Amino acid sequence: MKPFIVLRLLAALAAPIMITAQSPEAVPYRNPRLPVEERVSDLLGRMTLEEKVDMVSGGGWMESKANARLGIPPLRMADGPVGVRNWYGPSALTMRADSPLPTVTSTAFPAGVALAASWDPDLLREVGKTIGEEARALGRDMMLGPGVNIVRAPLAGRNFEMYGEDPYLTSRLVVGYIEGMQSEGIIATVKHFAANNQEHERQTIDAKIDDRALHEIYLPAFRAAVQEAHVWAVMSAYNKLNGHWCAENSWLLTDVLKKEWGFQGLVVSDWLGTHSTAETANAGLDLEMPGAESIRRLRAAGVQQNPGDVGSRGAMLTPDKLLPLVQSGDVPVGVIDDKVRRILRVMFANGLFENQKPGGGQVDTLTQRAVARKAAAEGIVLLKNAGDLLPLVSEKIHSIAVVGPNAAVAVTGGGGSSSVKTTHAISPLDAVRERAGSAIQVSYAPSLPEAADLAAKADVVLVFAGDSPKVEKEGQDRESMDLPAGQNELIDAVVKANPHTVVVLNVGAPVTMPWVEQTPAVLNAWFPGEEGGHAIADILFGDVNPSGRLPETFPRRLEDSPSWGHYPGKDGVVDYADGIYVGYRHFDKQNIDPLFCFGHGLSYTKFEYTDLKVSPQEVTLKVRNTGSRDGAEVVQLYIQPLAPSIDRPVKELKAFRRIDLKHGETSTVTLTLDDRSLAYFDPAKKTWVTDPGKYEVLVGSSSRDIRLKGTVTR
Ligand code: BGC
Repeated sequence: MKPFIVLRLLAALAAPIMITAQSPEAVPYRNPRLPVEERVSDLLGRMTLEEKVDMVSGGGWMESKANARLGIPPLRMADGPVGVRNWYGPSALTMRADSPLPTVTSTAFPAGVALAASWDPDLLREVGKTIGEEARALGRDMMLGPGVNIVRAPLAGRNFEMYGEDPYLTSRLVVGYIEGMQSEGIIATVKHFAANNQEHERQTIDAKIDDRALHEIYLPAFRAAVQEAHVWAVMSAYNKLNGHWCAENSWLLTDVLKKEWGFQGLVVSDWLGTHSTAETANAGLDLEMPGAESIRRLRAAGVQQNPGDVGSRGAMLTPDKLLPLVQSGDVPVGVIDDKVRRILRVMFANGLFENQKPGGGQVDTLTQRAVARKAAAEGIVLLKNAGDLLPLVSEKIHSIAVVGPNAAVAVTGGGGSSSVKTTHAISPLDAVRERAGSAIQVSYAPSLPEAADLAAKADVVLVFAGDSPKVEKEGQDRESMDLPAGQNELIDAVVKANPHTVVVLNVGAPVTMPWVEQTPAVLNAWFPGEEGGHAIADILFGDVNPSGRLPETFPRRLEDSPSWGHYPGKDGVVDYADGIYVGYRHFDKQNIDPLFCFGHGLSYTKFEYTDLKVSPQEVTLKVRNTGSRDGAEVVQLYIQPLAPSIDRPVKELKAFRRIDLKHGETSTVTLTLDDRSLAYFDPAKKTWVTDPGKYEVLVGSSSRDIRLKGTVTR
């Protein structure tokens, strides 16, 4: 044998031995001390085209595909956004009492709208972090939330999951949540990009929205998630936007998200929300979910993702479809490389190669529950409190009648993919009994005629009314803004029987309140998570002073709402003719008196505002707690352009701060303005513009309770 052949043979034999003998860190992509981008490039360079293409469409229902040869782990996902939901299948299966799938439980936090009602980015940071902790404990890498679609139509089924009607408020809150979650090494996924503002025909509807409304209303929260919170994943929406499916909308995914905003993470499809191969791949979608085999099994079992869902497709980027298009040049190799690069970047940056989260940690601990209780209490909104009926003074009360369909059940959240199964949830009835103790007699009747009889005999009546996860849910909009059948009649009868009645609502969206004039006290507890009962009792008995504020307007009637006449669409298209006039922008413009305005929420104490000082960058004022209890105030700053050069809303929220003040305490509040505070999106120039001139600075306790005014000149 010639010597060089011997050498080559030896080398060939030795090569694998040398690699296995190397420490893993000698392979650059396995070395955690190297920069992420270096590791990504190294690993990408070792992959075959087939292996790259294989990574672009999912593995299981909630897992991306792994690569055993190179040791690439799967991304293990779970819904979000208010707790770690069962990842073994769609809610249609996991929520069934006789579900054939394994059970997963975790802490159920309050719904998005309840969190938003806190107006407290720090609270959202704490909730995001705690959910991240639980995801880690359960061995998941990526959470499918938060949802930041703006509440446009009061009947939209998933309003309860979102952060309300205002882009500024939503942006501030989502940044807190994502920062908290990602600080735990858990990948957050902001969804649904973009304009998934209704469930009616959600998988086929084409949302027609002008450029200005998109930039001023529907996109800012996504931009904040990307540019400020550095979110690692964005989920494309099911619907079409201006004629193109969001999953294959290159304007949205490439021009805006990746090029203009500089997004470095991955775009994941909504589940079964892809419709084409080349278009989707070329438009900027990076990871299609779920895996084709899961879809096949779901279809074989005749299970729908959610009731009412039609038009979904999925399994469009599978290797059998995608590889030939790459080989023919219809999908450039560079496009595939970019997708794999993004997926790997997200994995390396979040330590997936090093510390595969083993699971086995603790969830729903007392500490985690305490966060859920605090969050629920902060979000509860005291809508009305005539004659200071609340808080209940235990020493003066001997009997409480608890009535209504939502009293003995803990309605923790709405229906669909956000519903978290929990081992523990306290109903309002149990929590009131626990707090009332033995000195107060608590009696209970769900409905008539016993409810009115009980009410007549009690010192105080608590009516627990509202929706259920069957009414407010994913995949379906509500039929009307009224409470479910019989509840208005029940409240009427109870209030007639006893004027000392408090109505506690469990709703994730506005409802009509035909009984509101006669009813002295109304609380909205939203869908408050597993500790909701305790939080409600905390507020009712004054252990916690209410500080929640409405993140969306409650109209008197559906006809007053901005989308009236332009919802739910016709012939597959919903025309957002309301443009930028969403929520309070519409009520102000049309001078319509809402039932409860944006930013509204009462306290058991009073706050006085003085000493306003205004500059173009900073606004300061003093706030004093003049009442006899400690409490928190939410100071809100709105900007009103005095001589706008184009049509503009009467006023817009541009800063806010929630502050805790002891009774008698005064604090200086500083609110900062930035270069977007006075600006609008000019559709002709396709950019943000600030007109020179005067702007009124309105500072108050709600959008219609303005206490101080100043002027700023630009
Ligand atoms: C929902 C998403 C969810 C996904 C996975 C879809 O139907 O729209 O919000 O994350 O299912 O459960």
